[in-house]
Amino acid sequence: MAKRPTIVRTVPALRRALSPFRRKAERIALVPTMGALHRGHLALVRQAQRRAGRVVVSIFINPTQFAPHEDFGSYPRRFETDIKALTPAKVDLVWAPSAAVMYPDGFATRLAPQGAAMAGLEDKFRPHFFGGVATVVAKLFTQVAPDFALFGEKDYQQLRVVTQMARDLDLPLKVIGVPTVREPDGLALSSRNLYLSAGERSAAPLLYRVLKASAARIKNGDKIEAVLDIGRREIDLAGFALDYLEARHALTLAPIAARKDGPIRLLVAAKIGKTRLIDNLGV
Ligand code: PAJ
Repeated sequence: MAKRPTIVRTVPALRRALSPFRRKAERIALVPTMGALHRGHLALVRQAQRRAGRVVVSIFINPTQFAPHEDFGSYPRRFETDIKALTPAKVDLVWAPSAAVMYPDGFATRLAPQGAAMAGLEDKFRPHFFGGVATVVAKLFTQVAPDFALFGEKDYQQLRVVTQMARDLDLPLKVIGVPTVREPDGLALSSRNLYLSAGERSAAPLLYRVLKASAARIKNGDKIEAVLDIGRREIDLAGFALDYLEARHALTLAPIAARKDGPIRLLVAAKIGKTRLIDNLGV
């Protein structure tokens, strides 16, 4: 039977657990998560194993990236199930600090990422979000000091923000993006899919269908704004409350008017019932 990963909850314990790996100059990969693990997270773990001999998964529901009205209190907490899922995946360490360990009394620093973090996508609807993500991810990178860190393309703007942050702060690690893992009907796996009612769940894959159809139309030479207008209408008609459907430069996330202006990423966010879903696709 596979060995349960070692669980560490304090920074000194983490350093002690990592030091034998460091002494042997083993490469370390970090997979940051908030738990409620699914096959998407496990795909990151598999990619981590391809890059490094040692894999650390962090499980920390980061309070600073949730606004007061968001779902921090009700975010799924399933630590034991998560550890069971990570055991056959052969993870070496689970870094699971408490909020008091991550943000001790008197904690007073917050990163303010710019660029992709101010693209007018997630930041427009969750203005506190990337400051909280950048701060906790910078701390995780410093605590674990990995050679590689794996992030999902599912949260595409987050992937761009974290990549830029690591570069801007000269952090000696490589950030690697992993393609989105989907259900057979196209819905991107997400811990928040647990919130969907049966009816919402059957409507949810529409977002991916719209992304695919829009990408095909743009490739076909249709005008980007016209394609997006059709997509927006479809999403509205299906009963979602649309936050955005946008075509952006895949690296900078700046607005893009024509295909020749660079690689395009389509990004969507919409609420169905009380649940907010995001997805994206390259053109
Ligand atoms: P969380 O939502 O738990 O996601 C952890 C990682 O899993 C992220 O890099 C996310 O993009 C990736 N992921 C989620 N669903 C995926 C899917 N269907 N396919 C592939 N990868 C997927 O993102 C966070 O946590 C937090 O913001 C965090 C980075 C941990 C900072 O608190």
